[in-house]
Amino acid sequence: MTTSDGVVKDVKKAPAKDPWDLPDVSGMVVGVLGGTGDQGRGLAYRLAKAGQRVIIGSRAAERAQAAADELGLGIEGLDNAECARRSDIVIVAVPWDGHAKTLEALREELAGKLVVDCVNPLGFDKQGAYALKPEEGSAAQQAAALLPESRVTAAFHHLSAVLLSDPEIAEIDTDVMVLGEKRADTDIVQALAGRIPGMRGVFAGRLRNAHQVESLVANLISVNRRYKAHAGLRVTDV
Ligand SMILES: NC(=O)c1ccc[n+]([C@@H]2O[C@H](COP(=O)([O-])OP(=O)(O)OC[C@H]3O[C@@H](n4cnc5c(N)ncnc54)[C@H](OP(=O)(O)O)[C@@H]3O)[C@@H](O)[C@H]2O)c1
Repeated sequence: MTTSDGVVKDVKKAPAKDPWDLPDVSGMVVGVLGGTGDQGRGLAYRLAKAGQRVIIGSRAAERAQAAADELGLGIEGLDNAECARRSDIVIVAVPWDGHAKTLEALREELAGKLVVDCVNPLGFDKQGAYALKPEEGSAAQQAAALLPESRVTAAFHHLSAVLLSDPEIAEIDTDVMVLGEKRADTDIVQALAGRIPGMRGVFAGRLRNAHQVESLVANLISVNRRYKAHAGLRVTDV
């Protein structure tokens, strides 16, 4: 380093933080907006099975309660607003169509919360699935724009709801790409993914790069159709 008077000083850098040294998230409450759907239910089931306290959210409290009762494992069911209010981490698992409207309505309840968006804006036609291009860049960036007082991250895009919900499957063999602006937040989401046996959360950049991650699901759908599979992803050499 060169000081203002031109003296070159030998400054010792702090050792790089171990990227696998992640926080203990076992005491955090996880809410799932749209948790009555395939993806939300699957995530709720896996996280609760791993010992996490989970609340399923829905536009109708009774639908959330019914889904929670069906899954057991101490899962609670509440309307989306109450779910957001009572949770530390809130996973957004509603369809792209209802994404903006859902988040706009919950701005207050989600203030200060760690929000994890897993929404993939996709279109479908005769040729299969294709990525849509949200005005803000991605679903995650739309969430960040609508929720300026929340800590928005993105993750869990590439998981198969079928595998998540299958009680015969003990481990989900996949990595979870985690994106966000603050390391403290992405570390928490990585740790949360790592609670599910077989899964690993891997930091994959800032929200401006969420579009590629969301879009990749269109490719995975093509893989699944050709190979009759529930494909996941592994990042190698990390
Ligand atoms: N399915 C997968 O394998 C998978 C994998 C990765 C990511 N994702 C993403 O996860 C999200 C949910 O997927 P999904 O397959 O679970 O969807 P889904 O079953 O169609 O919908 C999830 C839940 O969202 C609520 N919902 C439906 N329309 C809504 C609207 N217009 N506004 C607000 N809430 C609405 C419904 O719950 P209530 O009626 O109870 O409110 C529904 O049960 C999607 O954005 C998808 O891209 C899905």
